[in-house]
Amino acid sequence: MGPQEIKPGIYWVGVVDWNLRNFHGYSQTYQGTTYNAYLVLDEKITLFDTVAWKYREEFMCQIAQVVEPEKIDQIVVHHVEPDHAGSLPYVVDRTRPRTIYASKMGEKFLRGRFSCQNWPLETVANGQQISLGKRSAQFAETRMLHWPDSMVSFIPEEKLLISQDAFGQNIASSERFDDWISWPELKREMAHYFANIILPYSDRVPKALEAIQSLGWDIQMIAPDHGLILQSHVADAVAAYQEFAAQKPEKKAVVFYDTMWQSTEKMAEALASGLTAQGVSVKLYHLKSWHHSDVMAQVWNAAAVVAGSPTHNNNVMPLVADMLTYMQGLRPKNKLGLAFGSYGWSGESPDIISRWLEQIGVEQPLDPFGVKHVPGHDTYRELVRTAESLAGHIEDKVRQARTG
Ligand code: FEO
Repeated sequence: MGPQEIKPGIYWVGVVDWNLRNFHGYSQTYQGTTYNAYLVLDEKITLFDTVAWKYREEFMCQIAQVVEPEKIDQIVVHHVEPDHAGSLPYVVDRTRPRTIYASKMGEKFLRGRFSCQNWPLETVANGQQISLGKRSAQFAETRMLHWPDSMVSFIPEEKLLISQDAFGQNIASSERFDDWISWPELKREMAHYFANIILPYSDRVPKALEAIQSLGWDIQMIAPDHGLILQSHVADAVAAYQEFAAQKPEKKAVVFYDTMWQSTEKMAEALASGLTAQGVSVKLYHLKSWHHSDVMAQVWNAAAVVAGSPTHNNNVMPLVADMLTYMQGLRPKNKLGLAFGSYGWSGESPDIISRWLEQIGVEQPLDPFGVKHVPGHDTYRELVRTAESLAGHIEDKVRQARTG
């Protein structure tokens, strides 16, 4: 995709990674992604971010279609993660900018990752403004969204926020703006991104939004570093981020499991059936069919996680351990939980899962449920009753969240 003018004199010069299916090595992407970078033509020609190393040459071609790369005066580095700063040494070598701006932490990260002793680095503070010529750029630190170095830029004359990872979505497309797809689809992609990348730092989101509000920025366009640029859904996107960060529980349960000879699968189906009968919306995931990032994309607003594994070599099945490890790192909040699983003789798995859920901070109102060999009709009924009991706790939790 060639460069695109998103505002008079401001160009998207990013690249589209159509075939990416594994984002950062841990999150599934189905629609690829983009690495967005923006070039502002003003008295000082300013580049905001670069792209992943593998696209460095394509990136230079993008820039060259707008301006001779050697004319770039300054580069703003919002975030040093390789998907945005990977090409930076290559770009610096070819453009020789007069100044490279980064946050204080960004400068440390740049020095840690690159041989940049001779780069003209300058740190900028929260609220600091630099001149681009007729326009200016003001910075706000957004620590941990998604790394400690992260910051965003606002160009007040254009009412344009360049938001780096925040508000990003993994969508590869020839389109650049959010009016290309429906808001529900866009929100779903934003939620998938948030749940897998930003969820552990949810507490930082309201603070970052407040900090931006306190700077008095009148934002009419949000240009993230991944996916589509927001112009029709700016307010919706800000509200969605507040919603994702709050992780308010809905009457919804995510049931995930692995199974060896289908006994644990039968248990999962019985529990899902009991929950559904009580009006709880259920997402049922056999982990051999679903990636852990798809499960997490549903966990953020679920009131309950229900996790099952057969006992395998006195432990849980590897995919269940993977899911629980992944979830533990992402630290979801406001969850109820239930552990379950079948076994042939020793039967440790439900207790192992239960302890894991406890470490994640998941409240478990019911005892772990183990079944020896194969669940029969009586066990099936007992599982349904257990699920109905869990549904009652879910109802209470949702009510408390709404009234609290
Ligand atoms: Fe898109 Fe945190 O890098």
